Amino acid sequence: MAAESEKAFETASNRLNIINPAMPELIFATNNLHKLQEIQQAVGNKINILSLKDIGCDEDIPETSPTLEGNASLKSRYIYNQFQKNCFADDTGLEVEALNGRPGVHSARYAGPGHDHQKNIEKLLAELQGIVNRKARFRTVISLIMNGTEIIFEGIANGNISDHKHGDRGFGYDPIFIPDGYQKSFAEMDLDEKNIISHRGIALQKLMNYLKSFEQ
Ligand code: IMP
Repeated sequence: MAAESEKAFETASNRLNIINPAMPELIFATNNLHKLQEIQQAVGNKINILSLKDIGCDEDIPETSPTLEGNASLKSRYIYNQFQKNCFADDTGLEVEALNGRPGVHSARYAGPGHDHQKNIEKLLAELQGIVNRKARFRTVISLIMNGTEIIFEGIANGNISDHKHGDRGFGYDPIFIPDGYQKSFAEMDLDEKNIISHRGIALQKLMNYLKSFEQ
């Protein structure tokens, strides 16, 4: 309970610096604090980004689609239908060429019950043992619903899967993903460096450019 209220306070105080009540609002269908700060920083004081918690939604929105596009859409449509407010949602997957695009939409829970980032990495490295083709890409899909119309944005980061872990920053599959043009993994980059070339950074940039067209 204490942890929850501390988190809420932290969220509010971080965001109060740049939010004013007159700003147009856009719901981001997530409670991931890291993602919320990233995007609020990107839109500055033009748009007030609200989390699911901010709008009093504590439901676990189902992600039952076999595609990233489908899951992003499911989440944004769910929120729009419930709250009739402009909103967006994202979904990301790691698509490995030699595995026909797996783990893809199942990236978060790839290792099955009891999965975590370490187990997911171990499973992927085991599957790729002895396989020469290490090409992979991260893909992020964002579904935005503005005034009832849906628009999809996509960001892709191409790279290769290394044969062991490098670095301890970031999260998920970062320690085994070497982006094209680099000799280091995502987990060896600081966030600013990663965001410029990352799937999510690119998709967010496209969303930002679109939202800017609504500025006065
Ligand atoms: P989500 O849709 O952003 O929740 O991402 C689904 C899963 O993809 C995460 O649980 C991670 O395993 C993986 N993933 C997403 N983005 C990244 C990233 O930037 N680096 C490493 N793994 C990621």
